[in-house]
Amino acid sequence: MGNEKDIIILGIESSCDDTSAAVIKNGCLLSNIIASQKVHEAYGGVVPELASRAHQQNIVPVVDQAIRQAGISRDEISAIAYTRGPGLLGSLLVGSSFAKGFSLAAGIPMIEINHLQGHVLAHFIQEKDVEFREPKFPHLNLLVSGGNSQIIIVRDHLEMEVIGQTIDDAAGEAFDKCAKVMGMPYPGGPLIDKLAKEGNPNAFEFSKPRIKELDYSFSGLKTSFLYFLRDQIKDNENFIEENQADLCASLQKTIIDILMNKLVKAAKQTGIKEITMGGGVSANSGLQNALRAEAEKRKWNLFIPKFAFTMDNAAMIAITGYYKYQKKQFAAQDAVPFARMSIND
Ligand code: KG4
Repeated sequence: MGNEKDIIILGIESSCDDTSAAVIKNGCLLSNIIASQKVHEAYGGVVPELASRAHQQNIVPVVDQAIRQAGISRDEISAIAYTRGPGLLGSLLVGSSFAKGFSLAAGIPMIEINHLQGHVLAHFIQEKDVEFREPKFPHLNLLVSGGNSQIIIVRDHLEMEVIGQTIDDAAGEAFDKCAKVMGMPYPGGPLIDKLAKEGNPNAFEFSKPRIKELDYSFSGLKTSFLYFLRDQIKDNENFIEENQADLCASLQKTIIDILMNKLVKAAKQTGIKEITMGGGVSANSGLQNALRAEAEKRKWNLFIPKFAFTMDNAAMIAITGYYKYQKKQFAAQDAVPFARMSIND
């Protein structure tokens, strides 16, 4: 049973192709339900119209399951937090409309959450019977997903500054687009990660961008990968099948080198040794290993999210809501979602 001082947040995430609901009580996770949408696999990418329809079908059962698994009753919930953006507008509208209805019906406040802040704050989710280590402030976060590649200084739970970001594609897009060129299904990132384990990372060399300061660029890598394969296929039409593992390992190494190079530079420039990582690409085993090696060499205090918190999930939305609730940062009923948002919006 809850008491009046308990802060219980119901989180809702529907920014892309995962419908998720989670319950967090006083910072501790009670449930985190994620319904992934398989319907997009056949199309080689997320189809926005299909994503919003699937969210509509999933949202009520997912929320219901999250509340039941948390072992709480609806009237104990202090506030509902939902993803305002960035993401697909049709998908975001399903989550925000649901949150508005729930908040009105239950007579509780509603909290808008920036999805990017959610990824950063995933490190503050406590779990029952799991040892909890939280990063100190300020820390640096490498945020790498299908839509973002950023280096962020995190000064406080809700105070963040982007000091480097991609000027074109995100790291996840580089994985997914190169996988598509090799004829692999969407999303290609996890498959490249798996195949790379069997391959030689030094078998092939791909061009790395020369971008100023702490920014990233991945579109040139995708093009050079495409042209390289075109040339090789002219001589051997089975080139991709015969070299799949080496191609994956070499491509993955290139992406990791690009990411790590700027992260090391950012740590040196800022003098910050407290390092965290977030977003879908942070599940990549090669990237995790590279970070661990660098952390050991440079005496970084490193935080890698557990797998369930790397992907889009409502637990990270609920924990961000927990911090915003304490500052009484509530949303009005006429709030609207945004497809494009930066970390401080
Ligand atoms: O954060 P996320 O679930 O969605 C958003 O972009 O918001 O990230 C999805 C991205 C996809 O590009 C996917 O290919 C990539 O994360 N990804 C990976 C791995 N797991 C997911 N990329 C490389 N290695 C992985 N193990």
